[in-house]
Amino acid sequence: MTTALETIKKINPAAYPKHVGIIMDGNGRWAKQQGKPRTFGHKAGVESVRAAVRFAQQHQLDVLTLFAFSSENWKRPEQEVSVLMELFMFVLTKEVKRLNRNNVRLKIIGDVSRFNDRLQKKIAESEALTKENDGLLLCVAANYGGRWDIANAVNRHIEKTGCTTLTEEDISANISLAEFTPLDLIIRTGGETRISNFLLWHAAYAEFYFTDELWPDFREESFAKAVQCFSLRQRRFGLTGDQVENA
Ligand code: FPP
Repeated sequence: MTTALETIKKINPAAYPKHVGIIMDGNGRWAKQQGKPRTFGHKAGVESVRAAVRFAQQHQLDVLTLFAFSSENWKRPEQEVSVLMELFMFVLTKEVKRLNRNNVRLKIIGDVSRFNDRLQKKIAESEALTKENDGLLLCVAANYGGRWDIANAVNRHIEKTGCTTLTEEDISANISLAEFTPLDLIIRTGGETRISNFLLWHAAYAEFYFTDELWPDFREESFAKAVQCFSLRQRRFGLTGDQVENA
């Protein structure tokens, strides 16, 4: 049987998404299925993060944005939040040199001011180390909320210009990742079909791909299936199908 990884090799790479956002859901359920604590699932999820980054590099994506911790996740049990923080710290410490060697630029979006000083320092160091890299942009959304991002963009514009009547362009210019390739595709694992306050502004014309696979099971073949599905979509951006075909 032909795999999706083989199939997408035959597709013109121009049809691949250039910016993919992933809502990595299902770690807790994956762990529960094995009779393990939820945090076991988060740890296993790190291997899927590695696989997604590898896939993104091999398929010339410009940007991969991973939703690692939402502004609502603070409401989870204290022990789980603390393990997630340690995991971010561990991943940054362990992986950033390798990312740098692979020409990956790392960027964190979200309100990092709520993280402890040690983690904030690690984030700043990791971003500084990789900031000249012009390969894949690996963006990690941490303490991120789409509504926070929009409110932040509005405030930034007002601070810069003093003008309180905003256009869509003003928000687009001040939103996170404004300077990078626009979002093409949002993948959500774990069977839920909602956006959960992820890249709300950016998602206006993005395609969605939902899979029941739990995040720790999501590997290169799963990513390839999402890309294959994306390549078959017709993105109309408000036009008719005929207009798009004739363009
Ligand atoms: C959602 O699954 C997953 C998270 C809130 C955390 C994701 C974090 C990682 C994969 C590890 C670190 C990642 C980086 C980029 C450093 P869930 O707990 O909501 O699962 P459930 O729906 O089954 O309960």
